[in-house]
Amino acid sequence: MGNHFDSIDQVARELAEAHYIADRALATVLFLAHRLEKPIFLEGEPGVGKTEVALVMARLFQTSLIRLQCYEGLDATTALYEWNYPKQLLHIRIEEQQKKGKDEIERAIYSPEFLIKRPLLEAIMSAEEKSPVLLIDEIDRSDEEFEAFLLEVLSDFQITIPEIGTLRAGKRPMVVVTSNRTRDVHDALKRRCLYHWIDYPSFEKEYRIIMTRIPGVEEDFARQVTAFMQKIRGVDFLKKPGVSETLDWAQALMTMHHSFLEEEVVDATIGCILKYQEDIKKFKEEIWNDDEQRSQYLSATA
Ligand SMILES: Nc1ncnc2c1ncn2[C@@H]1O[C@H](COP(=O)(O)OP(=O)(O)OP(=O)(O)O)[C@@H](O)[C@H]1O
Ligand SMILES: [Mg+2]
Repeated sequence: MGNHFDSIDQVARELAEAHYIADRALATVLFLAHRLEKPIFLEGEPGVGKTEVALVMARLFQTSLIRLQCYEGLDATTALYEWNYPKQLLHIRIEEQQKKGKDEIERAIYSPEFLIKRPLLEAIMSAEEKSPVLLIDEIDRSDEEFEAFLLEVLSDFQITIPEIGTLRAGKRPMVVVTSNRTRDVHDALKRRCLYHWIDYPSFEKEYRIIMTRIPGVEEDFARQVTAFMQKIRGVDFLKKPGVSETLDWAQALMTMHHSFLEEEVVDATIGCILKYQEDIKKFKEEIWNDDEQRSQYLSATA
């Protein structure tokens, strides 16, 4: 397995071997990000394979994955570093007993040894031979303030700790930023990244995902499930199902020893793909109770 991408085709091929199906546009973005050492910004609906990109890249490059999960209220300290107060205190006690001077003690306790590295600092200071993959997941959940701070970090991969000085990344981590677009992320941040929108998959892509993710699945069954999913996404639901739901559903059906879709089975397992009561009600009333529609869903093909 290469640690270097020579072509877009190679990216797509290696991802597929690692069980991730990427279309040409995504493979191109990953190729360029790797070559130009630029962060990737992935936006898209829930469950379409954004986070998985970072996991699979780390696997391909056989390097570590450092993950920063964003949430409301996440601040620079939590993302970057904190001082290890208990350890510092203990050290002060010991040094005092040894009658060390105040300056000496202070120098000692504000050294890297007493830092608790949070994901961003860890990525910058990563001492590994290979640069790590840094996943900044669901950036849209963090506040704009945090976004501005992140902009700085991503611009030059260096941070200044007042007591220590400026630390610079030896090897630039490969950065994957994801967003579900619950709010718009600032242009300035996007500008520093290669942007890619991951859409719901095409029939072909979704079929390949099922085939690669679910061992032992039969081709005809995978095709039937794919066609069903492609069709159901055309309905105006509160929450359309993503790829996660497709995989969960196919897995559930297989666990129940079903290898084709039938009326009662779909009815009983619809909760695997629709997660709002309103959507389930709508599905049952407008689609499943309608003979013609139902048979269309069950016999749908590419
Ligand atoms: N192109 C793909 N190839 C293989 N597996 C995929 C692909 N897209 C999605 N999956 C699978 O679907 C599931 C959901 O993917 P993932 O968690 O990456 O979605 P996400 O876009 O990050 O969702 P969310 O917005 O909810 O965090 C995972 O199990 C992943 O392996
Ligand atoms: Mg995700």
